[in-house]
Amino acid sequence: MKISGRTFVVSGGASGLGRACVLDICAQGGNAAILDMNTEAGEELATALGASARFIQCDVSSTTSIASAVSSIVSWTRQTGKPLGGIIPAAGVGLPALILDKHLRPASLESIDFVLSINLRGTLDLVRQLLPHLAATGPSGPDGERGVVVMVASAAAFEGQMGQVAYSASKGAVAAMTLPMARDLSRFGIRVVTIAPSMFESNMTAHLSDKVREGLQKAMEFPARAGKPDEFASLVRQAIENVMLNGVVIRLDGATRMPSKL
Ligand SMILES: NC(=O)c1ccc[n+]([C@@H]2O[C@H](COP(=O)([O-])OP(=O)(O)OC[C@H]3O[C@@H](n4cnc5c(N)ncnc54)[C@H](O)[C@@H]3O)[C@@H](O)[C@H]2O)c1
Repeated sequence: MKISGRTFVVSGGASGLGRACVLDICAQGGNAAILDMNTEAGEELATALGASARFIQCDVSSTTSIASAVSSIVSWTRQTGKPLGGIIPAAGVGLPALILDKHLRPASLESIDFVLSINLRGTLDLVRQLLPHLAATGPSGPDGERGVVVMVASAAAFEGQMGQVAYSASKGAVAAMTLPMARDLSRFGIRVVTIAPSMFESNMTAHLSDKVREGLQKAMEFPARAGKPDEFASLVRQAIENVMLNGVVIRLDGATRMPSKL
């Protein structure tokens, strides 16, 4: 799928990994719809990018908020003449909680629902509501491709650390739905790729203590550092452009395997 001349929807596009994808898509001549709760950061980014980006305030845990964002995206693609080309549901949250703490209190259902409703349900609902519009675009290229979904899992899908039961459940589910989604969508010429990053520099990881950072550094192989958002965006670009990538979960982790705790 060529990025140029197409519109890509990036949830969580106002910050971190999603933001890096927005910048890269616009640099490649594509348009980016930035969906995020953070209006200030989203509008600032869209203003900086000019006509190739549009910020749409959206809470991916609300199905009506997604519906309204989808309708704005569809009208924008009609105005610009740049049809939808892909969906990158990168909005995500982490809320560490032990499943049972030392006072024998189980994790609250509210905290579990919060993580699942954004990382899992929000991903699925955004993709679900955009798919009819993606499938309605004309086929392109020699393979008749219509689009690509690039989902964001995490190393925690495979080796979640202590306190990551809900986060790992959400990311493990995203990884697990990659192949069945690719199978469901193959008849429409829509591919599905999931990227599972280890620790990357972003707002999500900016607040980690020095002790945790040092521990993470020890767990790393090569390179012994957090990934950079543009390294993530570069793999997303490859997932969009390389038609043979489909139904796969790609780890982006410099061979890091997370230990139980840091
Ligand atoms: N940074 C890492 O180390 C890392 C590692 C593995 C996976 N991930 C995943 O990458 C994705 C991006 O994370 P990041 O590190 O860039 O974090 P980030 O905090 O920098 O960005 C996440 C964005 O999602 C938005 N968001 C949160 N809840 C939302 C909601 N309900 N509706 C719409 N937008 C919402 C936030 O406002 C923010 O702009 C997440 O899915 C995260 O789980 C990150």
